[in-house]
Amino acid sequence: MRTVHSLKELRAILRGYRQQEKTIGLVPTMGNLHEGHISLVRKAAEAADIVVTSIFVNPLQFGANEDLDTYPRTLIEDQDKLRTAGNTLVFAPSADEVYPDGLARHTRIIVPEVSEGHCGTSRPGHFEGVATVVAALFNMIQPDCAVFGEKDFQQLAVIRKMAKDLMVPVEVIGAPTIREDDGLAKSSRNSYLSDEERAIAPVIYQILEATSAKIADGREDFETLAQEAGNSLSDAGLRLDYFNIANSQTLKPAVPEDREITLLAAAFLGTTRLIDNISVIR
Ligand code: PAF
Repeated sequence: MRTVHSLKELRAILRGYRQQEKTIGLVPTMGNLHEGHISLVRKAAEAADIVVTSIFVNPLQFGANEDLDTYPRTLIEDQDKLRTAGNTLVFAPSADEVYPDGLARHTRIIVPEVSEGHCGTSRPGHFEGVATVVAALFNMIQPDCAVFGEKDFQQLAVIRKMAKDLMVPVEVIGAPTIREDDGLAKSSRNSYLSDEERAIAPVIYQILEATSAKIADGREDFETLAQEAGNSLSDAGLRLDYFNIANSQTLKPAVPEDREITLLAAAFLGTTRLIDNISVIR
């Protein structure tokens, strides 16, 4: 498994694979890989001959008071994990490689509607940063398919819409959330949690499950349900960012006519912001 840092080198290697008519799968990541990422790599390896995992902590998607500087950078450990997961190539560019004219002068991509609400409200500019870097990665690697985790449900919707609107010839594949035994969704940010916070964290998934069960049983008073769920998160010791119940496609507030509904939650434990979601088909 090779690791390349420059776009020129990456393109030369990929050209070789294309000449051999190999298909290419991309797994975009910010590194600090855990089992969730590895499941994305395995899925990409099922769908394509060659898997490229990109590792880039994208400054454009972090807000001013967020964890860009402290985000764990663990390239050596990441390479070890990828080697055993069927990954072919690691692309780990510098910020200068991705943003040669600097962040302020870089073209940005705005994806309307699905970027709004939920994390889009709490993290202004975040999805602009995600859509911009993922579009650049699509152009750099020109993959046949790209795999993203359903844990970042809104991000997946934003990327699907961006790829569709910009006519990017890539199949965007969603992969199910990988969880710890107690239900906590695997996330690089879980490593920030103290023992005490880690013990509380699974309550997010428990409340998502309990609320989705009520919807599956026929409750349609979504606003009240969301409020109750948010209160339960606060009672458990989390600082609520949002608990929303939305149409799975549009991400707009769910209405009784909706058949596919997604419950999305974000909450802080100390300074760590955790997100999770669950979908129900009625
Ligand atoms: O989900 C992530 O790790 C990032 O948002 C992504 C998709 C790699 C873009 O930087």
